[in-house]
Amino acid sequence: MVAEKQTHDINLHDVNLFLRDEFHEAFRVLRREAPVHWNPGSARANGFWSLAKYEDILFVSRNPETFISSKGIGGPGERNPRPEDVARAAARPPGEGDSSIITMDPPRHVKMRRLVNKGFTPRAVNAMEPQIRAQTREVLDAVGDRASGDFVLEVSSQLPLAVICGLMGLPREAWPLMFELTNAALGAGDPEYQTAQVGTAGSTEAARATARAGNLRMAQYFREVLEQRRAEPREDLISILLEAELDGEQLTEREILEFCNLLVIAGNETTRNAISGGLVALDEHPDERERLQADMSLIDSAVEEILRWTSPLHHMTREATADVEIRGQQISAGEKVMMWYPSANRDEDVFDDPYRFDITRSPNDHIAFGIGEHFCLGAGFARKEIRVMFEELFDRYPKIRLAGGPDRLRSSFINGIKHLPVDYR
Ligand code: HEM
Repeated sequence: MVAEKQTHDINLHDVNLFLRDEFHEAFRVLRREAPVHWNPGSARANGFWSLAKYEDILFVSRNPETFISSKGIGGPGERNPRPEDVARAAARPPGEGDSSIITMDPPRHVKMRRLVNKGFTPRAVNAMEPQIRAQTREVLDAVGDRASGDFVLEVSSQLPLAVICGLMGLPREAWPLMFELTNAALGAGDPEYQTAQVGTAGSTEAARATARAGNLRMAQYFREVLEQRRAEPREDLISILLEAELDGEQLTEREILEFCNLLVIAGNETTRNAISGGLVALDEHPDERERLQADMSLIDSAVEEILRWTSPLHHMTREATADVEIRGQQISAGEKVMMWYPSANRDEDVFDDPYRFDITRSPNDHIAFGIGEHFCLGAGFARKEIRVMFEELFDRYPKIRLAGGPDRLRSSFINGIKHLPVDYR
């Protein structure tokens, strides 16, 4: 029997839930009382369905024809979008997808994925390990003799930046700009990162203008890089994309620009927060930390537990193309469905004692990287970076401690930490 749309007074539009780190409690209630939950729209944003259960997220992620990505994956969408965005979305038939891999649907997505996969296989990642270790040591060398500092600015943001910029062949002078632009893209709602002089600090207008300006600057930068690589091809990922063909045709400039944009953002913001959040989790669980530092062979399972525990990306969104029933709730064609990974990763039906941070948890089938069709392309790199970072960090600074609480990012999309004071010694 189909029930009425179930609502609840928990409002996932409210960014304060995430800023104050209160979302785990909200999801615990939703899993128990409203696992398929209709979140009504606000003056600015559309309403959406929230999926809080692991099994339901698997179902949606594994049915990419019924739950498509090409109508947007970042959230419920604005209630009053710009007319040009509406026209662009309307002109795009489902199945054809957008020009970014993450917003493509099958069959084009499958082909695009096959095309870029080679650079991200376990073999490719393992071959990069010596370089990732050297890059990690360089990051820690720069901390030097300092007794204390900001772990995010000095350490956790620096390794992902070095790795992804290295893969793309971007010169070191460009790394600070990439750091700034990815913060603008995913931290646009946080006053600290807002660059636009529009609206009040933290307002939606300021956020939109910041994100738009950041995107334009990013596209402009990568257009110049493409021009250079066309004139002078190299071995890097961008040169490979320029040569690549899909269905006998080269990728369009827009497809390559979108891929560069996605790689820089996805490669930086998430891994950074897994490393920062991992240090917080270990600091808050001294027994687990001691166990790990006494036996670093536990690092692989510790990395998986850090990923489950921190779930750096909060959600991905799909749009239903048909009417579907999940747990007695009727999801109608055209409605948005948000998959909440932190909730799935603490689902009592899947994980024993899910609120316990256990570095030897087994099994640990978390879905911090998503699952199915769009499973994270960079998961191998992320895992390797987190692993190597903690190996090298504990070797160099075995006594590192938090010197204050994390300064959290104002975002419901990224489980972000902007600043983290630490004593290195
Ligand atoms: C801890 C770090 C990371 C987390 C938690 C994470 C999480 C995710 C998630 C949940 C998705 C699924 C999107 C969906 O189903 O719609 C995804 C996709 C993706 N990620 Fe990651 N990611 C991480 C690191 C990286 C890195 C380092 C890279 C690049 C080197 C990367 C590149 C991508 C790309 C290109 C996609 C799109 C794949 C597709 O649409 O087929 N990610 N990521």
